[in-house]
Amino acid sequence: MRRRDFLKGVVKAVLVSMACISSSVAALFIYPASVKQREITMYECLSEEELPRRGVRRLDIEIDNKGRRAAVFIVAHEDKCFALSPVCTHLGCLVSFSRHGNAFICPCHGGKYDVEGNVIGGPPPRALTRLPMRVDKGKVYIGLKV
Ligand code: FES
Repeated sequence: MRRRDFLKGVVKAVLVSMACISSSVAALFIYPASVKQREITMYECLSEEELPRRGVRRLDIEIDNKGRRAAVFIVAHEDKCFALSPVCTHLGCLVSFSRHGNAFICPCHGGKYDVEGNVIGGPPPRALTRLPMRVDKGKVYIGLKV
């Protein structure tokens, strides 16, 4: 390989790397802005009597009249009841709950969360997201950004 060809290859590699890095950095600044623009909508999902007294229950909430649904987990644990997003905080796969292990497991890279959604194993950088939840006149509402 001639010196000139080698240098051309190096310059191309540097330019491609710079383009990739700058687009990634730009995405970091653009993405949060677009996420912030989405509003939280409270969806009625079940009656108060249907809330679990203990353990974890998965719900599929209908979010529009076209049949789109969003999954959430309702957790009743140590006198607390809260809603968790099933979206893994590593790369966004959907976790499932293992009753046997009493933990949320991500099938993609082995992420593991305790029953409160805290990371206990694998690559996820932070806990599962807690979703807004309120009870009003006997109905349970969960907040989603969709
Ligand atoms: S997406 Fe869940 S561990 Fe990677």
